[in-house]
Amino acid sequence: MTRLITGQLVAFGADYTHLSHESKGAIVVGDDGRILWRGPMSLLPQAFATAPRDDYGDKLLMAGFIDAHIHFPQYRMLAAPAKDLLDWLSRYTFPEEARYAAAPYAAASAKIFLQRLFSNGTTAALAFSSSHKVAAEALFHAAENHHMALITGKTMMDREATSAVQDTAEQSAEDTLALHRVFHNRGRLRHAVSPRFAITSTEAQLELAGEVLKQCHGALLQTHLSESVAEIARVKQLFPNDPDYTAVYERFGLLTDHSIFAHGIHLSASEVSRLAAAGATIAHCPTSNNFLGSGLMSITRNSPLPIALATDIGGGTSYSMLQTMAETYKVQMHCGLKLSAAQLFHMATLGNARALRIDHETGSLDIGKYADLVVLNPQATAVLASRHELSESIEDVLFALALLGDDRAVAATYVAGGKVH
Ligand code: GUN
Ligand code: ZN
Repeated sequence: MTRLITGQLVAFGADYTHLSHESKGAIVVGDDGRILWRGPMSLLPQAFATAPRDDYGDKLLMAGFIDAHIHFPQYRMLAAPAKDLLDWLSRYTFPEEARYAAAPYAAASAKIFLQRLFSNGTTAALAFSSSHKVAAEALFHAAENHHMALITGKTMMDREATSAVQDTAEQSAEDTLALHRVFHNRGRLRHAVSPRFAITSTEAQLELAGEVLKQCHGALLQTHLSESVAEIARVKQLFPNDPDYTAVYERFGLLTDHSIFAHGIHLSASEVSRLAAAGATIAHCPTSNNFLGSGLMSITRNSPLPIALATDIGGGTSYSMLQTMAETYKVQMHCGLKLSAAQLFHMATLGNARALRIDHETGSLDIGKYADLVVLNPQATAVLASRHELSESIEDVLFALALLGDDRAVAATYVAGGKVH
Protein backbone atom coordinates (compact mmCIF):
# COMPACT_ATOMS: atom_id res chain seq x y z
CA MET A 1 0.00 0.00 0.00
CA THR A 2 1.30 3.46 -0.90
CA ARG A 3 1.96 5.56 2.22
CA LEU A 4 2.88 9.10 3.12
CA ILE A 5 5.45 10.18 5.70
CA THR A 6 5.55 13.90 6.47
CA GLY A 7 7.80 16.20 8.50
CA GLN A 8 10.70 18.62 8.00
CA LEU A 9 12.69 17.10 5.14
CA VAL A 10 16.48 17.22 5.16
CA ALA A 11 18.16 15.79 2.08
CA PHE A 12 21.63 15.84 0.60
CA GLY A 13 22.60 15.90 -3.03
CA ALA A 14 25.74 14.40 -4.48
CA ASP A 15 27.92 16.04 -1.82
CA TYR A 16 27.47 17.66 1.56
CA THR A 17 27.33 21.19 0.19
CA HIS A 18 23.97 20.42 -1.45
CA LEU A 19 21.65 20.31 1.53
CA SER A 20 17.98 20.78 0.78
CA HIS A 21 15.41 21.55 3.45
CA GLU A 22 11.61 21.60 3.28
CA SER A 23 9.93 22.76 6.48
CA LYS A 24 6.72 20.96 5.41
CA GLY A 25 7.87 18.03 3.35
CA ALA A 26 6.57 14.64 2.31
CA ILE A 27 7.92 11.28 1.25
CA VAL A 28 5.68 8.86 -0.63
CA VAL A 29 6.59 5.21 -0.12
CA GLY A 30 5.44 2.62 -2.66
CA ASP A 31 4.35 -0.99 -2.12
CA ASP A 32 7.91 -2.15 -2.75
CA GLY A 33 9.31 -0.04 0.12
CA ARG A 34 10.95 2.43 -2.26
CA ILE A 35 10.60 6.21 -2.41
CA LEU A 36 8.02 7.08 -5.06
CA TRP A 37 8.01 10.82 -4.60
CA ARG A 38 9.57 13.44 -2.34
CA GLY A 39 9.04 17.16 -2.06
CA PRO A 40 7.13 19.97 -0.37
CA MET A 41 3.61 19.11 0.80
CA SER A 42 2.33 22.00 -1.31
CA LEU A 43 3.39 20.11 -4.46
CA LEU A 44 2.17 16.65 -3.40
CA PRO A 45 0.54 15.02 -6.45
CA GLN A 46 -3.22 14.62 -5.99
CA ALA A 47 -2.95 10.84 -6.46
CA PHE A 48 -1.13 10.52 -3.10
CA ALA A 49 -3.17 13.02 -1.10
CA THR A 50 -5.46 10.42 0.46
CA ALA A 51 -2.78 7.82 1.22
CA PRO A 52 -2.44 6.74 4.88
CA ARG A 53 -0.03 9.12 6.56
CA ASP A 54 2.53 9.18 9.39
CA ASP A 55 2.87 12.85 10.27
CA TYR A 56 5.93 13.92 12.26
CA GLY A 57 5.15 17.65 12.29
CA ASP A 58 8.30 19.68 12.98
CA LYS A 59 10.54 16.66 13.48
CA LEU A 60 13.30 16.05 10.92
CA LEU A 61 12.82 13.34 8.33
CA MET A 62 16.03 12.21 6.67
CA ALA A 63 17.98 9.24 5.31
CA GLY A 64 18.70 6.61 7.96
CA PHE A 65 22.19 6.29 9.38
CA ILE A 66 24.63 3.69 8.15
CA ASP A 67 27.21 2.09 10.44
CA ALA A 68 30.35 1.20 8.47
CA HIS A 69 31.93 -1.05 11.12
CA ILE A 70 30.29 -2.80 14.06
CA HIS A 71 30.68 -6.19 15.79
CA PHE A 72 27.43 -8.13 16.18
CA PRO A 73 28.75 -10.60 18.84
CA GLN A 74 29.95 -7.68 20.95
CA TYR A 75 26.49 -6.17 21.25
CA ARG A 76 26.42 -6.35 25.05
CA MET A 77 30.11 -6.03 25.98
CA LEU A 78 30.43 -2.25 25.82
CA ALA A 79 32.46 -0.45 28.48
CA ALA A 80 34.85 -3.35 29.21
CA PRO A 81 37.91 -1.65 30.70
CA ALA A 82 41.29 -2.94 29.50
CA LYS A 83 44.89 -1.80 29.18
CA ASP A 84 44.66 -1.54 25.42
CA LEU A 85 43.20 -3.25 22.34
CA LEU A 86 45.07 -6.56 22.63
CA ASP A 87 44.33 -6.86 26.36
CA TRP A 88 40.65 -6.03 25.67
CA LEU A 89 40.42 -8.71 22.97
CA SER A 90 41.84 -11.52 25.08
CA ARG A 91 40.28 -10.52 28.38
CA TYR A 92 36.70 -9.77 27.30
CA THR A 93 36.08 -10.10 23.58
CA PHE A 94 37.08 -13.65 22.74
CA PRO A 95 35.19 -15.18 25.73
CA GLU A 96 32.02 -13.26 24.75
CA GLU A 97 32.30 -14.16 21.07
CA ALA A 98 32.75 -17.84 22.01
CA ARG A 99 29.04 -17.96 22.95
CA TYR A 100 28.10 -17.53 19.30
CA ALA A 101 28.96 -21.12 18.50
CA ALA A 102 25.44 -21.88 19.73
CA ALA A 103 22.86 -21.15 17.03
CA PRO A 104 19.95 -20.37 19.42
CA TYR A 105 22.07 -17.85 21.31
CA ALA A 106 23.20 -16.23 18.05
CA ALA A 107 19.62 -16.05 16.74
CA ALA A 108 18.29 -14.42 19.93
CA SER A 109 21.21 -11.98 19.98
CA ALA A 110 20.74 -11.02 16.31
CA LYS A 111 17.21 -9.81 17.02
CA ILE A 112 18.36 -7.68 19.95
CA PHE A 113 21.32 -6.36 17.97
CA LEU A 114 19.16 -5.16 15.07
CA GLN A 115 16.60 -3.61 17.41
CA ARG A 116 19.43 -1.67 18.99
CA LEU A 117 20.53 -0.35 15.59
CA PHE A 118 16.97 0.66 14.74
CA SER A 119 16.38 2.44 18.05
CA ASN A 120 19.45 4.51 17.21
CA GLY A 121 18.24 5.37 13.72
CA THR A 122 20.69 3.04 11.96
CA THR A 123 19.13 1.39 8.92
CA ALA A 124 22.12 -0.36 7.28
CA ALA A 125 25.46 -1.70 8.49
CA LEU A 126 28.65 -3.53 7.69
CA ALA A 127 29.08 -5.87 10.64
CA PHE A 128 31.58 -8.44 11.82
CA SER A 129 30.01 -11.67 13.07
CA SER A 130 31.92 -14.22 15.14
CA SER A 131 34.11 -16.99 13.75
CA HIS A 132 31.13 -19.34 13.81
CA LYS A 133 29.24 -19.72 10.55
CA VAL A 134 25.97 -20.03 12.46
CA ALA A 135 26.37 -16.51 13.86
CA ALA A 136 26.67 -14.94 10.41
CA GLU A 137 23.69 -17.01 9.27
CA ALA A 138 21.66 -15.82 12.26
CA LEU A 139 22.40 -12.17 11.49
CA PHE A 140 21.62 -12.59 7.79
CA HIS A 141 18.27 -14.20 8.60
CA ALA A 142 17.34 -11.52 11.15
CA ALA A 143 18.19 -8.71 8.70
CA GLU A 144 16.30 -10.42 5.89
CA ASN A 145 13.16 -10.40 8.04
CA HIS A 146 13.35 -6.59 8.07
CA HIS A 147 14.34 -6.26 4.40
CA MET A 148 17.47 -4.49 5.63
CA ALA A 149 20.71 -3.74 3.76
CA LEU A 150 23.03 -5.72 6.01
CA ILE A 151 26.53 -6.83 5.13
CA THR A 152 28.39 -9.41 7.16
CA GLY A 153 30.59 -12.48 6.96
CA LYS A 154 32.18 -15.13 9.07
CA THR A 155 35.20 -13.85 11.01
CA MET A 156 38.32 -15.70 9.85
CA MET A 157 40.84 -16.23 12.68
CA ASP A 158 43.11 -19.25 13.05
CA ARG A 159 45.69 -18.18 15.65
CA GLU A 160 46.51 -15.93 18.64
CA ALA A 161 43.08 -16.44 20.23
CA THR A 162 41.34 -19.08 22.35
CA SER A 163 40.36 -22.33 20.66
CA ALA A 164 36.64 -21.58 21.13
CA VAL A 165 36.88 -18.75 18.61
CA GLN A 166 39.59 -20.13 16.32
CA ASP A 167 38.96 -21.84 13.02
CA THR A 168 41.35 -23.31 10.48
CA ALA A 169 42.41 -21.77 7.20
CA GLU A 170 40.57 -24.40 5.15
CA GLN A 171 37.37 -24.36 7.21
CA SER A 172 37.20 -20.57 7.15
CA ALA A 173 37.56 -20.51 3.36
CA GLU A 174 34.90 -23.18 2.93
CA ASP A 175 32.45 -21.41 5.26
CA THR A 176 33.10 -18.04 3.62
CA LEU A 177 32.41 -19.40 0.13
CA ALA A 178 29.26 -21.16 1.35
CA LEU A 179 27.93 -17.96 2.95
CA HIS A 180 28.60 -16.04 -0.24
CA ARG A 181 26.67 -18.53 -2.36
CA VAL A 182 23.65 -18.48 -0.08
CA PHE A 183 23.39 -14.88 1.07
CA HIS A 184 25.18 -12.45 -1.25
CA ASN A 185 22.60 -10.37 -3.16
CA ARG A 186 19.76 -12.34 -1.57
CA GLY A 187 17.27 -9.45 -1.36
CA ARG A 188 19.21 -6.62 0.25
CA LEU A 189 21.81 -8.80 1.96
CA ARG A 190 25.48 -8.57 0.96
CA HIS A 191 28.50 -10.57 1.97
CA ALA A 192 31.88 -9.39 3.27
CA VAL A 193 34.98 -11.60 3.41
CA SER A 194 36.10 -10.94 6.99
CA PRO A 195 39.59 -11.86 8.20
CA ARG A 196 39.69 -10.32 11.71
CA PHE A 197 43.18 -8.79 11.39
CA ALA A 198 46.72 -9.84 10.51
CA ILE A 199 47.55 -10.94 14.06
CA THR A 200 44.83 -13.61 14.23
CA SER A 201 45.41 -15.09 10.78
CA THR A 202 48.26 -17.31 9.62
CA GLU A 203 49.81 -16.64 6.23
CA ALA A 204 47.93 -19.70 4.99
CA GLN A 205 44.60 -18.18 6.05
CA LEU A 206 45.37 -14.75 4.58
CA GLU A 207 46.36 -16.41 1.34
CA LEU A 208 43.07 -18.30 1.22
CA ALA A 209 41.19 -15.11 2.15
CA GLY A 210 42.68 -13.44 -0.92
CA GLU A 211 41.74 -16.38 -3.15
CA VAL A 212 38.23 -16.57 -1.73
CA LEU A 213 37.75 -12.82 -2.18
CA LYS A 214 38.45 -13.20 -5.90
CA GLN A 215 35.73 -15.86 -6.10
CA CYS A 216 33.19 -13.88 -4.06
CA HIS A 217 32.10 -11.52 -6.83
CA GLY A 218 30.83 -8.21 -5.49
CA ALA A 219 31.71 -9.01 -1.87
CA LEU A 220 33.36 -6.43 0.37
CA LEU A 221 36.52 -7.14 2.33
CA GLN A 222 36.49 -5.97 5.95
CA THR A 223 39.31 -6.14 8.47
CA HIS A 224 41.23 -3.99 10.98
CA LEU A 225 44.37 -1.98 10.25
CA SER A 226 46.76 0.17 12.25
CA GLU A 227 44.63 0.65 15.34
CA SER A 228 47.08 0.49 18.24
CA VAL A 229 50.81 0.82 18.71
CA ALA A 230 51.11 -2.60 20.39
CA GLU A 231 49.11 -4.19 17.57
CA ILE A 232 51.46 -2.73 14.94
CA ALA A 233 54.48 -4.01 16.88
CA ARG A 234 52.97 -7.53 17.02
CA VAL A 235 52.28 -7.45 13.27
CA LYS A 236 55.95 -6.53 12.74
CA GLN A 237 57.00 -9.58 14.80
CA LEU A 238 54.65 -11.92 12.96
CA PHE A 239 55.41 -10.60 9.46
CA PRO A 240 59.05 -9.45 9.71
CA ASN A 241 59.60 -9.37 5.97
CA ASP A 242 56.73 -7.03 5.15
CA PRO A 243 57.75 -3.34 5.18
CA ASP A 244 54.61 -2.23 7.04
CA TYR A 245 51.17 -3.39 8.24
CA THR A 246 49.38 -2.46 5.00
CA ALA A 247 51.90 -4.51 3.01
CA VAL A 248 50.68 -7.69 4.71
CA TYR A 249 47.16 -7.23 3.32
CA GLU A 250 48.63 -6.03 0.02
CA ARG A 251 50.68 -9.21 -0.36
CA PHE A 252 47.59 -11.39 -0.05
CA GLY A 253 45.40 -9.43 -2.48
CA LEU A 254 43.23 -7.88 0.22
CA LEU A 255 43.82 -4.26 -0.81
CA THR A 256 40.98 -3.53 -3.24
CA ASP A 257 38.37 -0.88 -3.99
CA HIS A 258 35.90 -3.02 -2.04
CA SER A 259 38.10 -3.11 1.09
CA ILE A 260 37.03 -1.39 4.31
CA PHE A 261 39.79 -1.10 6.90
CA ALA A 262 38.69 -0.16 10.42
CA HIS A 263 40.75 2.52 12.22
CA GLY A 264 43.85 3.40 10.13
CA ILE A 265 45.13 5.63 12.92
CA HIS A 266 48.89 5.25 12.64
CA LEU A 267 49.39 4.90 8.87
CA SER A 268 52.56 6.17 7.20
CA ALA A 269 52.35 8.45 4.16
CA SER A 270 53.33 5.50 1.98
CA GLU A 271 50.53 3.34 3.41
CA VAL A 272 47.99 6.12 2.87
CA SER A 273 48.98 6.55 -0.76
CA ARG A 274 48.91 2.79 -1.47
CA LEU A 275 45.50 2.42 0.19
CA ALA A 276 44.19 5.41 -1.75
CA ALA A 277 45.58 4.10 -5.04
CA ALA A 278 43.76 0.81 -4.42
CA GLY A 279 40.48 2.68 -3.80
CA ALA A 280 40.18 1.36 -0.22
CA THR A 281 38.22 3.05 2.58
CA ILE A 282 39.05 3.71 6.24
CA ALA A 283 36.23 3.27 8.75
CA HIS A 284 36.79 5.81 11.50
CA CYS A 285 35.58 4.64 14.93
CA PRO A 286 36.15 7.57 17.29
CA THR A 287 34.29 6.38 20.41
CA SER A 288 36.24 3.12 20.23
CA ASN A 289 39.58 4.83 19.60
CA ASN A 290 39.03 7.12 22.57
CA PHE A 291 37.78 4.34 24.85
CA LEU A 292 40.67 1.96 24.09
CA GLY A 293 43.21 4.79 23.98
CA SER A 294 44.17 3.77 20.46
CA GLY A 295 44.94 7.25 19.14
CA LEU A 296 43.55 10.10 17.05
CA MET A 297 42.76 9.32 13.41
CA SER A 298 43.38 12.48 11.40
CA ILE A 299 41.21 12.87 8.30
CA THR A 300 43.64 15.49 7.01
CA ARG A 301 46.69 13.28 7.47
CA ASN A 302 44.91 10.35 5.80
CA SER A 303 43.74 12.48 2.87
CA PRO A 304 42.88 11.53 0.10
CA LEU A 305 41.59 8.27 1.61
CA PRO A 306 37.78 8.08 1.81
CA ILE A 307 36.68 8.04 5.46
CA ALA A 308 33.55 6.22 6.60
CA LEU A 309 32.08 6.59 10.11
CA ALA A 310 31.42 3.72 12.45
CA THR A 311 30.56 2.83 16.03
CA ASP A 312 32.80 -0.25 16.39
CA ILE A 313 30.55 -1.64 19.11
CA GLY A 314 31.70 -3.10 21.57
CA GLY A 315 35.07 -1.24 21.48
CA GLY A 316 32.89 1.78 20.76
CA THR A 317 30.84 3.15 23.62
CA SER A 318 27.67 4.16 21.78
CA TYR A 319 25.36 2.64 19.17
CA SER A 320 24.37 6.16 18.19
CA MET A 321 25.70 7.56 14.94
CA LEU A 322 24.85 10.99 16.41
CA GLN A 323 27.28 10.32 19.26
CA THR A 324 29.75 8.96 16.70
CA MET A 325 29.48 12.25 14.77
CA ALA A 326 30.06 14.18 18.02
CA GLU A 327 33.19 12.19 18.75
CA THR A 328 34.35 12.54 15.13
CA TYR A 329 33.98 16.28 15.45
CA LYS A 330 36.02 16.36 18.67
CA VAL A 331 38.79 14.08 17.39
CA GLN A 332 39.17 16.17 14.23
CA MET A 333 39.29 19.36 16.35
CA HIS A 334 42.30 17.80 18.10
CA CYS A 335 43.78 17.25 14.64
CA GLY A 336 43.16 20.82 13.43
CA LEU A 337 40.09 20.17 11.26
CA LYS A 338 36.69 21.71 11.97
CA LEU A 339 33.91 19.65 10.37
CA SER A 340 30.46 21.06 9.66
CA ALA A 341 27.16 19.38 10.55
CA ALA A 342 26.49 18.87 6.85
CA GLN A 343 29.82 17.05 6.47
CA LEU A 344 29.13 14.85 9.50
CA PHE A 345 25.59 13.90 8.46
CA HIS A 346 26.69 13.34 4.88
CA MET A 347 29.45 10.99 6.05
CA ALA A 348 27.02 8.99 8.22
CA THR A 349 24.50 8.57 5.39
CA LEU A 350 25.41 8.88 1.69
CA GLY A 351 29.16 8.81 2.35
CA ASN A 352 28.89 5.51 4.19
CA ALA A 353 26.48 4.13 1.57
CA ARG A 354 29.10 4.82 -1.09
CA ALA A 355 31.87 3.24 0.98
CA LEU A 356 29.75 0.10 1.41
CA ARG A 357 28.69 0.10 -2.27
CA ILE A 358 25.01 0.33 -1.41
CA ASP A 359 24.42 3.93 -2.52
CA HIS A 360 22.29 2.77 -5.46
CA GLU A 361 19.63 1.67 -2.96
CA THR A 362 20.07 3.69 0.24
CA GLY A 363 21.91 6.61 1.89
CA SER A 364 19.74 9.45 0.56
CA LEU A 365 16.13 10.36 -0.18
CA ASP A 366 16.46 10.01 -3.94
CA ILE A 367 13.38 8.66 -5.72
CA GLY A 368 13.77 4.93 -6.39
CA LYS A 369 15.91 4.21 -3.33
CA TYR A 370 14.50 2.23 -0.43
CA ALA A 371 12.74 4.30 2.23
CA ASP A 372 15.43 3.78 4.89
CA LEU A 373 14.59 6.74 7.10
CA VAL A 374 15.16 8.26 10.49
CA VAL A 375 12.94 10.80 12.21
CA LEU A 376 14.87 13.03 14.60
CA ASN A 377 13.42 15.23 17.31
CA PRO A 378 15.65 18.28 17.74
CA GLN A 379 13.94 19.01 21.07
CA ALA A 380 14.01 15.47 22.47
CA THR A 381 15.72 16.30 25.75
CA ALA A 382 15.75 19.35 27.99
CA VAL A 383 19.29 20.17 26.91
CA LEU A 384 18.46 19.82 23.20
CA ALA A 385 15.28 21.84 23.62
CA SER A 386 17.01 24.82 25.22
CA ARG A 387 19.87 24.68 22.73
CA HIS A 388 17.24 24.53 19.96
CA GLU A 389 15.89 27.90 21.07
CA LEU A 390 19.20 29.41 19.92
CA SER A 391 19.40 27.63 16.56
CA GLU A 392 19.29 29.99 13.61
CA SER A 393 19.55 27.65 10.63
CA ILE A 394 18.96 24.04 9.68
CA GLU A 395 22.73 23.55 9.77
CA ASP A 396 22.69 24.77 13.37
CA VAL A 397 19.80 22.40 14.28
CA LEU A 398 21.75 19.48 12.79
CA PHE A 399 24.95 20.46 14.58
CA ALA A 400 23.20 20.52 17.97
CA LEU A 401 21.64 17.11 17.23
CA ALA A 402 25.02 15.64 16.27
CA LEU A 403 26.77 16.97 19.36
CA LEU A 404 24.02 16.53 21.95
CA GLY A 405 21.76 13.84 20.50
CA ASP A 406 21.59 10.09 20.98
CA ASP A 407 18.86 7.44 20.83
CA ARG A 408 16.52 9.73 22.75
CA ALA A 409 16.44 11.99 19.69
CA VAL A 410 15.29 9.15 17.40
CA ALA A 411 11.49 9.43 17.15
CA ALA A 412 11.08 6.72 14.52
CA THR A 413 13.07 4.53 12.12
CA TYR A 414 11.92 2.98 8.84
CA VAL A 415 13.66 0.23 6.89
CA ALA A 416 12.44 -0.28 3.31
CA GLY A 417 9.33 1.68 4.24
CA GLY A 418 8.50 -0.50 7.24
CA LYS A 419 8.44 1.10 10.68
CA VAL A 420 11.02 -0.79 12.77
CA HIS A 421 11.19 1.64 15.69
N1 GUN B 1 41.05 -5.68 16.05
C1 GUN B 1 40.81 -7.00 15.89
N2 GUN B 1 39.61 -7.35 16.38
C2 GUN B 1 39.05 -6.23 16.86
C3 GUN B 1 37.81 -5.94 17.50
O1 GUN B 1 36.96 -6.80 17.73
N3 GUN B 1 37.61 -4.63 17.86
C4 GUN B 1 38.52 -3.66 17.61
N4 GUN B 1 38.25 -2.41 17.97
N5 GUN B 1 39.69 -3.91 17.02
C5 GUN B 1 39.96 -5.17 16.65
ZN1 ZN C 1 36.28 -3.45 14.99
